[in-house]
Amino acid sequence: MAHVKIFDTTLRDGEQSPGVNLNRLEKLEIAKQLERFGVDVMEAGFPASSQGDFEGVREIARTIKNASVTGLARAVKSDIDAAWEALKEGADPRLHCFIATSPIHMEYKLKKSPEQVIQTAVEMVKYGKKNFDKIEWSAEDASRSDLDFLARIIKEVIDAGATVINLPDTVGYTTPYEYGQIFNYITQNVPNIDKVSLSAHCHDDLGMAVANSIAAIENGATQVEGTINGIGERAGNAALEELAVALTIRKDFYPHHTGLVLNEIKRTSDLVSKLTGMVVPRNKAVVGQNAFAHESGIHQDGVLKHAETYEIITPELVGVKSNSLVMGKHSGKHAFKDKLQQLGYTLSDEKLLAAFTEFKKLTDKKKEVTDDDLFSILTEIQTTS
Ligand code: KIV
Ligand code: ZN
Repeated sequence: MAHVKIFDTTLRDGEQSPGVNLNRLEKLEIAKQLERFGVDVMEAGFPASSQGDFEGVREIARTIKNASVTGLARAVKSDIDAAWEALKEGADPRLHCFIATSPIHMEYKLKKSPEQVIQTAVEMVKYGKKNFDKIEWSAEDASRSDLDFLARIIKEVIDAGATVINLPDTVGYTTPYEYGQIFNYITQNVPNIDKVSLSAHCHDDLGMAVANSIAAIENGATQVEGTINGIGERAGNAALEELAVALTIRKDFYPHHTGLVLNEIKRTSDLVSKLTGMVVPRNKAVVGQNAFAHESGIHQDGVLKHAETYEIITPELVGVKSNSLVMGKHSGKHAFKDKLQQLGYTLSDEKLLAAFTEFKKLTDKKKEVTDDDLFSILTEIQTTS
């Protein structure tokens, strides 16, 4: 089975979420949890961006033993130097160096010609190679780049010593078919591509980051990048928990495995949400409060008969204790009776009907009926003859 490496960038791209600012200790706490979760690589930050980030990356590199720790650097010597200083004491340091390759970025942001971009990329990979064995090179805005140019620059940076090539969909613009075709093109048209790992890095501006990452895997990517809870610039990055679960439960279609410990998902998600202040939406796939909650009577009845009628993921798989049947206006008698049994009540058919009638009246006034509401209905029913 093919192994897909997981590159987590919660502490770098994730921290770029507007409004998020993690201190040194918070970053370290998340890094330790990412290690327990089993990521292969963690991007701890952007050492040249601030003294605080430099120190945070250095402390994580010193602490983490079971994952490669990396830091971001622009294609400039001072960034690469800062990355080396922050990462050099790590168990498995990796440089992540990037430069933009799309026409719009080269012309307006970098103000460099395509030839100058190739020259800079090659020089900086060679410069990084003085200290780093492992260098990931990213073609920023790869999905809006000219494919022939992309193939040329990739060949050159591999010759210069890059060990991983990352093709980011920086602005979340691409679609699964198109992104897959980019990977296909690069694997077919870069003669030395088999010397390196190929990585996908997707943003979620059109809500397709996870789907695009899977398309990349289908077309030769052996590493995927993303964040916990999908946090990140603008609409965020590919949500690693979604990707990991999709690959796991669709083994029939994807003969790939990751080293992730899936039952650490909930704990990792909760920690990242708490420390970043980025609340997980209730309906978020895999980790949202509603991901294992059923409200419709038809669904509740089905789940009580056989969970797989409406659950494709078991809650235990991702570290959630159990599913929940939400007591609301769509709930049916079967789920209601089951809920009462969980609360310790076994009622006669007559009292059950009376309690169910009161419960239904209450659901017209309240979206969700709590255990306390049920207790007061039951007390009323049990104490009147
Ligand atoms: O989205 C992006 O292009 C990035 C790069 C810096 C890798 O985050
Ligand atoms: Zn990114």
